[in-house]
Amino acid sequence: GVSTLRLNVNGAVRTVQAEPRVTLLDALREYLDLTGTKKGCDHGQCGACTVLVDGKRINSCLTLAVMHQGKQITTIEGLAQGDKLHPMQEAFLKHDGFQCGYCTPGQILSGVACVQEGHATTDEQCREWMSGNLCRCGAYPNIVAAVREVAG
Ligand code: FES
Repeated sequence: GVSTLRLNVNGAVRTVQAEPRVTLLDALREYLDLTGTKKGCDHGQCGACTVLVDGKRINSCLTLAVMHQGKQITTIEGLAQGDKLHPMQEAFLKHDGFQCGYCTPGQILSGVACVQEGHATTDEQCREWMSGNLCRCGAYPNIVAAVREVAG
């Protein structure tokens, strides 16, 4: 049956009336209208659904929303501060880190985690960390350049 899930998303507690088997991805997209998080493969293969939970990146298609009550969930909608883009968003714009843009929210959140967790000190290390985020357009060199710039 349907139950009430309480999710802390981008700093606000939201409630979702859903079956306990709903994935975090579907809770965000279908119940909370946070469609910036993309559904690519829905099987943990593409990274389009990447979000941060307590600062760690996860594939939201592979996990149940119910498991993340009481944690801080960050989606692409939560990165900018008002009109001010997050430095990773600015860097993706500056370096053309996208073409069609479908994978971009996931790439950006993976990039944020990459820098925060100290995996962006070399191009190679950065590529390795970002390898779970597929880009059909092949924007990889520009994506790495963007993440590396934010890492400093
Ligand atoms: Fe989750 Fe592809 S939609 S990894």
